[in-house]
Amino acid sequence: MKIAMIGTGYVGLVSGACFSDFGHDVICVDKDSSKIDALHAGKIPIYEPGLDELVASNVSAGRLRFTTELASALDGVDAVFIAVGTPSRRGDGHADLSYVYAVAEELAGALDHEAVVVTKSTVPVGTGDEVERILNEKGHGLTHSVGSNPEFLREGAAIGDFKRPDRIVIGVEDERAEKVLREIYRPLFLNEAPVLATRRRTAEMIKYAANAFLATKITFINEIADLCEAVGADVQDVARGIGLDNRIGKKFLNAGPGYGGSCFPKDTLALMKTAQDHDVPLRIVEATVQANDLRKRSMGRKIVHALGDDARGKRVAILGLTFKPNTDDMRDSPALAIVQTLLDAGAKVVAYDPEGMEIAAPMMPQVEMADSVYAAAEGADVVAIVTEWDAFRALDFGRLAQSVKQRILVDLRNIYRPEEVTRHGFQYIAIGTSAA
Ligand code: UGA
Repeated sequence: MKIAMIGTGYVGLVSGACFSDFGHDVICVDKDSSKIDALHAGKIPIYEPGLDELVASNVSAGRLRFTTELASALDGVDAVFIAVGTPSRRGDGHADLSYVYAVAEELAGALDHEAVVVTKSTVPVGTGDEVERILNEKGHGLTHSVGSNPEFLREGAAIGDFKRPDRIVIGVEDERAEKVLREIYRPLFLNEAPVLATRRRTAEMIKYAANAFLATKITFINEIADLCEAVGADVQDVARGIGLDNRIGKKFLNAGPGYGGSCFPKDTLALMKTAQDHDVPLRIVEATVQANDLRKRSMGRKIVHALGDDARGKRVAILGLTFKPNTDDMRDSPALAIVQTLLDAGAKVVAYDPEGMEIAAPMMPQVEMADSVYAAAEGADVVAIVTEWDAFRALDFGRLAQSVKQRILVDLRNIYRPEEVTRHGFQYIAIGTSAA
């Protein structure tokens, strides 16, 4: 199949590279010439494990190309995927669809044959209808099919998620779109990845419902963690105890400092707006959003509490800034609110993150960036793990004990067992445990 992928952001680049790896002929288009130049030079603009090798091998096999020229990229394509950003609209939280519609307008002008146009960007219900209207009203009398094919990729695990998906969702209004989409994903049918073919609006809704459900699941266990602390129970055993029930499932039950990233915060907000527009209250999602917002600052206060409720002039070492490991993404990272709370309380903050510091530094100019865990911990009154990078999972506590001023470890990701830490003379404070 010949595929054009519009947008070389996270979703576009990973999807384009994976489609080409299936053997399809893929051309990725982006208006940003610096991105395309970088890709031509073999540089990947985002941090995603395995993506550089995947791009390099498919480029050298001649299956993956990059361009800024939309019109020539569309030459003979079977399918065009729209994978541009849908950020929260300033002021009201609605998904900003201006990039999606701008692409639809350009496609209407540039497509000289009938093709299947698919939204991969996360778009509110009804967006596909509007894309179809633009294409077919402003096209050259051609009838294009418009489908929805939401992505379920986690940053840091995106290639695995793409190649071994739990499911593939195809939202279509006609047979042509279904046929083309099934053909594009055929290499995965051999792995027996379930395909759900449904109507377009339903596919759009599935994406939001999935993210809202996962955000709610995390928020639920976070609140249970707080209660565990209050009553002397252990949230990790509670999570295991409920997660072994197949109806609940083990995943996304790790209590932590609150969810962040480019998806859950934005998508829950957009879903709430859609619900309000239709006068359908989504109270559970609203409560999730509110609880998660409050949680991030409360995690900062937890660190202040570990300092005897007085952080003035104290040195806090933050390990991990990104919203989760294996990414350099700082969007809506809990670390932002945690650091601000600490600064507000008068602390001096030093941070270390394996990949995120370049992006984080301008977002938190008062924070000193250290070049290793141990440099960050030098003279610290408290060390706090905020992101569960593998590099923090086997800390040399003997060395850490020599570096710090006070031996207090706040572990907001529960990556240690208390005795692993306390035997080195550290006070250990985790999430949702009676030891906290
Ligand atoms: C999420 C979804 O997991 C993907 O399926 C979806 O495709 C993607 O959004 C999207 O809409 O594009 P992502 O934001 O990359 O993926 O990250 P997740 O791994 O889902 O983590 C999100 C946040 O939840 C992180 O801050 C993470 O630390 C937190 N989390 C996750 C927890 O606190 N506990 C958990 O048990 C799991």
